[in-house]
Amino acid sequence: MTEKTGELDLTPDQLLSTTRTVRKRLDLTRPVERKLLEECLDLALQAPTGGNLQGWHFVLVTNPEPKRAITDLYRKSKTKNDPQSTQDEHQKNMDSSAYLAEHLHEVPVLVIPCVEGRVENAPLLLQAVTWGSILPATWSFMLAARARGLGTAWTSLHLEYEKDVAEVLGIPFEEVMQVALIPVAHTIGTDFKSGMRIPTDERVHWDSW
Ligand SMILES: Cc1cc2nc3c(=O)[nH]c(=O)nc-3n(C[C@H](O)[C@H](O)[C@H](O)COP(=O)(O)O)c2cc1C
Repeated sequence: MTEKTGELDLTPDQLLSTTRTVRKRLDLTRPVERKLLEECLDLALQAPTGGNLQGWHFVLVTNPEPKRAITDLYRKSKTKNDPQSTQDEHQKNMDSSAYLAEHLHEVPVLVIPCVEGRVENAPLLLQAVTWGSILPATWSFMLAARARGLGTAWTSLHLEYEKDVAEVLGIPFEEVMQVALIPVAHTIGTDFKSGMRIPTDERVHWDSW
């Protein structure tokens, strides 16, 4: 494979295997150029959507005040949903996810991918089509970011307080669902390794389960 992607000159396979969850190596001191974000968003919107409906939206949060408000809600959710780990993490001098919770408001850009429709009570088919119409674009955004020397982390904890975050950002909650919160920053160093994963053959089923 010889084709290279983005400014880091990664091959597609390198890009796919080294796009990690970046928390402690987010550079909190360096601003992220708007042009880089726009390139990532243009690439993200090449992803497929059910019926090509393209009901996707991306809210980019850069101002300190809403970032602070969202961080407070994120931390509240972390304490509620992960109290034991939060405690242990502090004892261990702050592990990666506690570090992110501590510093979320300092991350240059928080990206919230959203999709039109609320499917909490919808049949499975509609749920799958709705989530499936924003998650590929979100991952494409993260891959495009990595190719440009930016780090990201898929997070979901703020969704415990989705309605409050919608109010902070003016997102029309009744019509639009938030699906994740992606901190974006330049990375400290650009070398990332493949993740530790369950072996493929333990998770792959050929022809039957
Ligand atoms: C659906 C989903 C939700 C996640 N939510 C959070 C989160 O709220 N906070 C967080 O710090 N990491 C979150 N993560 C990151 C995972 O913990 C991370 O992907 C996992 O540790 C693997 O990291 P790696 O790909 O770098 O090996 C989430 C990841 C996914 C895919």
